[in-house]
Formats: sequence, C-alpha cells, structure tokens
Amino acid sequence: MRHLLSTRDLSRETAVGILDVAEDMADVAGREVKKLPALRGKTVVNLFFEDSTRTRISFEAAAKRLSADVINFSAKGSSVSKGESLKDTAQTLAAMGADAVVVRHQASGAPSVLAQSGWIDAGIVNAGDGTHEHPTQALLDAFTIRRRLHGASARGRDLDGVTVTIVGDILHSRVARSNVWLLTTLGAHVHLVAPATLVPLGIGDWPVTIGYDLDAAIDASPDVVMMLRIQAERMHAAFFPNAREYSREWGLDDERLDRLPAASLVMHPGPMNRGLEISANAADSARSTVLEQVANGVSIRMAVLYLLLSGTGEL
Ligand code: CP
Repeated sequence: MRHLLSTRDLSRETAVGILDVAEDMADVAGREVKKLPALRGKTVVNLFFEDSTRTRISFEAAAKRLSADVINFSAKGSSVSKGESLKDTAQTLAAMGADAVVVRHQASGAPSVLAQSGWIDAGIVNAGDGTHEHPTQALLDAFTIRRRLHGASARGRDLDGVTVTIVGDILHSRVARSNVWLLTTLGAHVHLVAPATLVPLGIGDWPVTIGYDLDAAIDASPDVVMMLRIQAERMHAAFFPNAREYSREWGLDDERLDRLPAASLVMHPGPMNRGLEISANAADSARSTVLEQVANGVSIRMAVLYLLLSGTGEL
C-alpha cells in the first residue's frame, strides 16, 4: 500500500507490522540522541487545511527524527484564501519536491482524491478528513492499548479479546470510525455509547455493539473507555439539550471514574473539553493515557513515514 488513507483496508498483519515498527521507533525516543538517518534527503509536506495541534506537530517531529526535510503548510494565511484549489496547492508543493504529503482536510475523501487523481506522485497520509477517518490516531490508540496491556512483550501481538467502549459524538468522529475498523481487525470488541442523536445512520453495518446508557457500559468493566470530543464546530443543530445535560448523561465524571475497575484505561484523542465529556480528575488520573497517546503518536507517525518512504515504499 503506497498511501495510508484509512484503517478499513489494513489487514491484521499490516496493522501489527506498523505497531511493531513503532515499537522500534519508541526505543529511539528513549535514547539521548533521538534521531535516525533513515529518511535523509526525503521531503515531507504537512498540508493542513484544518486546525491541529497534536497531529501536525507529531508528524513534524516524526519526520525530523528520521532526518527528513519538512515543509509545513497551513491553509490559513495561504493562497487558499484567494481561491487556490486543492489540486493547484498540492501540485505547487509537489513541485518543491515532496516525497510524502500528510493531509488534513475538512472534506471527507480529500486525501483519497489526492492519492487517486494522479496530480502528484507523493505518498499520501490521511491526517484526518472531515468525519471520515483519522488512521494514525487509531494506530496510536491501538499502540497505546497494546503497550499498557502487554508491556515489554507487546511486539507481534494483536488486541484479541480486549473490550473497548467508545463514548460520545460518534456521528462527527473520524477517530471513532478509524478505531472501529482497526480495533476490530485486531480482535478487540468495540461497544459504542452515545445519545441517539449522535449515532450515524448505517451504524447497524458496523462490527460493534451499541448502547445509550453510559452507566451500564461502565458497570460492564471494559478494559478501555475512550471518550470523544464533542465537535461543536461540526454541529449545525441541537443534538442534546445543553452541556450540563450532556455531561450528566454521557460524561466521564468523578463518580463514574470511581466505578471503573482500577485497571481500566481512560483514553481521549484530544483536544479535550474538560468538564463536558470528561472531568479534570478523569483526564489527569493515573488511568488516563492522554499524554501517552500524544507521545506514542510520534512513534506511530515515524513508523508510517519510514515504511512509506524507505525500502519497498509500502506499508
Ligand atoms: N487528536 C487530534 O487529531 O488532535 P489535533 O486536532 O490537535 O491534531
């Protein structure tokens, strides 16, 4: 596979292979000199049409740790505001010698268009497209779960039998979609919990179970509870009465945190709405992996860039 556009088309073998290369990359992060010469002479373009803190900085750190050159492009302040198209923007950056283009776009499918159009010859990595997918987020989430559960013996393993409950704004969440495909491919059981208004049409075809009661889901003692951000910027209607009501029904508050088994992990892709979908105590607790997820994101993105830009050039 020359591009990483989705987790839906990753086989178990390919996914475990990426996680294992990320383990090697994490070893590099533990060294005094956190740098490898593997991608010297290669250029990675970060093409961001939507805001990002974690993903953009993480791809930049990953590329630099592999000694690649990095060009950061943000639509804000660029000629996109003068009406320049995705095609012309991408071709302009490709003309500067891009070997890989990391794309975040508000339109679902924009990275696939770039990959399939033939406009540019670079490997395309989807860094989040609309409500469609965010594959490196799911890979770093799977990597974080595998490391927490299996520690030093994580290499080569999948997530067979692990129970993951994903809670909140499923409708607008590309993180949820990428995690559903990847975690189930790796053998996990995924349970989704959301208000009925935030459940997408067609969810009956997803390989998950669905519930509407967070307390019942907590009482089932899942291995992982993954809270999703309420994506107010994508909501053009009233999906729940108000923030207080949402928090009371579907937020991971202190009382629910206390009822979770001590070994259960609390995950959130960030950015968090503290006090809305997750309490400050839950976000900062020893069970929270929020900052580990960020650190692991660099290892996963190093693995993806390394696999796409060296050797066979395939995942
Ligand atoms: N999790 C995530 O994609 O965060 P950013 O929007 O900050 O990149």
